Amino acid sequence: MIHPIVVYGDPILKKVAVDIEKDSFDLVQLIADMYETMYAANGVGIAAPQIGKSIRLFVIDAEPFDKKRLKGFKKIFINPVIIHQDGDKWAYEEGCLSIPGIRYDVHRHSTITIKYFDENWVERTETYDDLKARVIQHEYDHIEGVLFVDHLSSLKKQLIKGKLTNISRGKYEADYRVKAPIGKR
Ligand code: NI
Repeated sequence: MIHPIVVYGDPILKKVAVDIEKDSFDLVQLIADMYETMYAANGVGIAAPQIGKSIRLFVIDAEPFDKKRLKGFKKIFINPVIIHQDGDKWAYEEGCLSIPGIRYDVHRHSTITIKYFDENWVERTETYDDLKARVIQHEYDHIEGVLFVDHLSSLKKQLIKGKLTNISRGKYEADYRVKAPIGKR
């Protein structure tokens, strides 16, 4: 089932999400729904808060975005914790399904180590670098209540303030289903 995507202005995107207890959700269905929602919106990753669930889960299928650097990068992260961030910060233009129409350079660490459970509840610890580390950090931010625009300098934030306000009021264009802004539900 395709879920409407929550957009900027909804307080759920600002909340630190909680761990999932085993068997507390139909995870198979939820993960399938998240992928379906993500593909329908042409995204490369989506986090549970973006479909209105404040839980620590995100899914990624980023290969279509860069067939070389992200080859085979399709993964499910349950209850993840980034335990180490390392390497020089580098800039790259990011966008977000929850912030339609805005793209900006974001500086992020080049290497991360993340501990998480996979879809079979097997605990894993893995290290990623380059674009994979970036995609993971972007999605991980979502379950920490952080959006990519939060990383921008105060000057840049000032520049896009009007656009963000418009999004929170329902004034934006998106070619996928979105949840109506708070004031209009
Ligand atoms: Ni995002």
